[in-house]
Amino acid sequence: MRTHYCADVNETHIDKTVTVSGWVASRRDHGGLIFIDLRDKDQVVQIVCDPADNAKVHKLAESIRDQYVLVVTGKVRARGEGLENPKLKTGKVEIVASELVIENTSKPMPFELGDEKVNEEIKLKYRYLELRTQKSYDIFKLRSKATMAARNILDELDFLEVETPIITKSTPEGARDYLVPSRVHGGEFYALPQSPQLFKQLLMVGGFDRYFQIAKCFRDEDLRADRQPEFTQIDVEMSFCDQEDVIDVAEKLIHNIFDKCGFDIPTKFTRMAYSDAMEKYGSDKPDMRYDLQMVDVIDIFERCDNEIFSNIAKDSKKNRIKALKVPKGDEIFSKRQMKGFEDYVRKFGASGLGYFQMKEDGLKGPLTKFFTEDDIQAIIERCDLEVGDAVFFGAGNKKLVWDYMGRFRIYLAEIMEIIPKDTFEFLWVMDFPMFEEDDGKINAMHHAFTMPNLDETGRDENGKIVYDDIEDLKSIAYDIVLNGTELGGGSIRIHKEDLQSEVFKLMGISEEEAQEKFGFLLDAFRFGAPPHGGFALGLDRLIMLMTGSSSIREVIAFPKTQKAQCILTQAPSEVTQEQLTELSLRVRKQIDA
Ligand code: AMO
Repeated sequence: MRTHYCADVNETHIDKTVTVSGWVASRRDHGGLIFIDLRDKDQVVQIVCDPADNAKVHKLAESIRDQYVLVVTGKVRARGEGLENPKLKTGKVEIVASELVIENTSKPMPFELGDEKVNEEIKLKYRYLELRTQKSYDIFKLRSKATMAARNILDELDFLEVETPIITKSTPEGARDYLVPSRVHGGEFYALPQSPQLFKQLLMVGGFDRYFQIAKCFRDEDLRADRQPEFTQIDVEMSFCDQEDVIDVAEKLIHNIFDKCGFDIPTKFTRMAYSDAMEKYGSDKPDMRYDLQMVDVIDIFERCDNEIFSNIAKDSKKNRIKALKVPKGDEIFSKRQMKGFEDYVRKFGASGLGYFQMKEDGLKGPLTKFFTEDDIQAIIERCDLEVGDAVFFGAGNKKLVWDYMGRFRIYLAEIMEIIPKDTFEFLWVMDFPMFEEDDGKINAMHHAFTMPNLDETGRDENGKIVYDDIEDLKSIAYDIVLNGTELGGGSIRIHKEDLQSEVFKLMGISEEEAQEKFGFLLDAFRFGAPPHGGFALGLDRLIMLMTGSSSIREVIAFPKTQKAQCILTQAPSEVTQEQLTELSLRVRKQIDA
């Protein structure tokens, strides 16, 4: 129904007859002439309906409204002097309509297409209209390019694309499962995969050597701007490899995707140990586009005259006292602002936020009286303070301090507007702890199939993993961080059944439970599982960062809301009694208090 896409009509077509089809982006009636901006997938071309030229077409054009669907045939001509539109790719020409077919009409738009201020619920209800905008088309064009680039490079690197099941058994990635009731096996449930983790490991046992998948994953977790209940990973696994081999593939993959999408990024990325990331940036995904690093001052505070601080400082294994210097902070922030920062960190559990200002005549601030002259000098040197700088202190339990000081760092960078736009700062965060303790429960930091790094510790003669503090055990796991967002992660896996059982044991998973949940994996490990490892990149997050979108929802064709609903289709929704009966289910209505 077309000879050209709108974007392709240009001066080389002058005096030629073309047919274009699309939607009316706007229509202007200038008394005699009617101008229509016709838009197809991405670009607009101007159509002119001239009564002197074709009265029938002009008459029809009078009835046309925005977003009507047209097929227009006409001769291309140059726009008159001064009438060109440099903003449009097709701005030098227009099509004089000789035939016009209205393929469909349209109700008035429920919102102005492309208006950023429109309430998101309305936009999601009519998502297909939002998708008609050039901005959306460009995002999905880039997304398609990125997946194509991923497939191509992984194919070149000898990876096999394999699909793994969607209705399956629970895969533990730390979130809640979405469950699917079985009709045939009443009272039993499938789970939607949180990732293809276990299947990709089984593919390695199956001897496929190198696997990838553009995989849909499902996680029932609290949603945020960079999280969706249903999302896509570029999932990779390989055999007979070490950490360096996996990182090399990940770097090639990421570089190729960015390159094919028109972005110039390095071929190798900086690395940082997890412990450094936490100590310096208070985060395992530090944004490296700006500096603002924390330094340790716990030893200096231990000597101060304030018991709150000196007591905290006594336990330097459990606690931290961290200083965050803000260059020129004293000049930038008012006293009120400085006090306001305390309210900010309190929201994240801080009991306060100390600060000093570096003045011409030395270090000032409510806390200085507790320090000796020498220690004041030590703080100045440790924090590298110059006149005009401010320095903030967080003190307390190390995890708490890392968390609120890390958040505070980002908050400061945002209000100081020092975060460069349009740059991509990649970082590998390495040497993650194997476990973290939460309320006495031991959880795997990456997942339970990650290889512990036993170089520093080891196992005793019974194969038991030896450690002083379980949180000191490291794993061979790595995350790739882009501009402060976790883009992906992976690890070398355990490939021996006895070590896997040991790890389950440490996590308090009994043999029976391990057998019930992952028995198939443990069984497979008994049949010659090769050493293997891999990673997964969050495709949606990658596109979100590449396109500078503020929410992951913009880069997913039909996303869910923050409450995990699809407003367009009204999912989730109730089902009929018959369906429930077939599935051996009964719904207990929640009774409002
Ligand atoms: P992980 O759980 O770290 O690892 O996930 C990998 C990447 O997937 C993306 N991601 C999400 N994106 C959008 N919405 C979500 N709810 C969401 N959750 C995760 C992130 C994240 O970095 N099986 C392992 C990988 C491996 O070890 O090979 C895994 O899934 O970008």
